[in-house]
Amino acid sequence: MSQSFTFLVLGATGGTGKHFVNIALREGHRVRVLLRSPEKLGDQVKDVQVWKGSIVDDIDTIDTDKLVEGVDFVASMLGDKEAQRDSKINYAFMQKLVPSMKKQGVKRFLYQAGGLSRPYQGSLSPVLWIVRNTIARGFDGQHKDNEAVMEYLETQAKDLDWIVHRAGIYLDGPSKGTLERSQSSVSIAPHKDCADYSYRLLVDPSKDAIHTSDFSCYKS
Ligand SMILES: NC(=O)c1ccc[n+]([C@@H]2O[C@H](COP(=O)([O-])OP(=O)(O)OC[C@H]3O[C@@H](n4cnc5c(N)ncnc54)[C@H](OP(=O)(O)O)[C@@H]3O)[C@@H](O)[C@H]2O)c1
Repeated sequence: MSQSFTFLVLGATGGTGKHFVNIALREGHRVRVLLRSPEKLGDQVKDVQVWKGSIVDDIDTIDTDKLVEGVDFVASMLGDKEAQRDSKINYAFMQKLVPSMKKQGVKRFLYQAGGLSRPYQGSLSPVLWIVRNTIARGFDGQHKDNEAVMEYLETQAKDLDWIVHRAGIYLDGPSKGTLERSQSSVSIAPHKDCADYSYRLLVDPSKDAIHTSDFSCYKS
């Protein structure tokens, strides 16, 4: 590694987030996390800088300017299917966090949404639309929340270098290969590969992915 950066990871105890934190630490970076249950980190708790809090219950008291102070890259892998059924919790928190990221000069922001979340002013293929409205119907609130975040980023945050990863996660498990960005194809991948891809996207010096909301797909 040539340079060491500071990452803020949201959703660090989740399926994707825990792998993301492992990768960032392995690559020699500093990692700050905002989470509800530090004990879920296990031994890793000693390697990261912990901010305890909920993006819902503590939204009014979390000092987001301080949270992102000195942070180079922010990765959001937040999700709470039950809470998102009735409420756009991520959108509400992003409305507070994004102005702080702009103010504090965060270099880049990665937001992990879902392959079944519709990009702003875009559409889903008929197949994905059917999947969303049948077997994946329980996640509809999560997709609507992700869609509100994408609209907000497109319309209110073009002065921030953000990237949305519309991931096609199935379950945790061993790596199935290397994901790359795709506008048309989505692969069903384990959390580990999605975290690896999100990490590479975030630190990519080429910046090709800035202001995109693409899928990830295995190299053929
Ligand atoms: N899982 C899928 O099948 C799937 C598929 C495609 C895309 N995605 C997208 O990827 C995102 C992340 O997915 P994932 O499967 O990695 O998530 P996950 O395993 O459900 O983890 C979600 C993370 O968000 C945290 N979180 C939830 N509510 C919070 C709150 N109020 N305050 C602070 N932290 C909170 C959780 O913390 P706790 O440990 O405290 O609960 C956990 O760390 C999803 O939101 C979705 O948009 C997921």
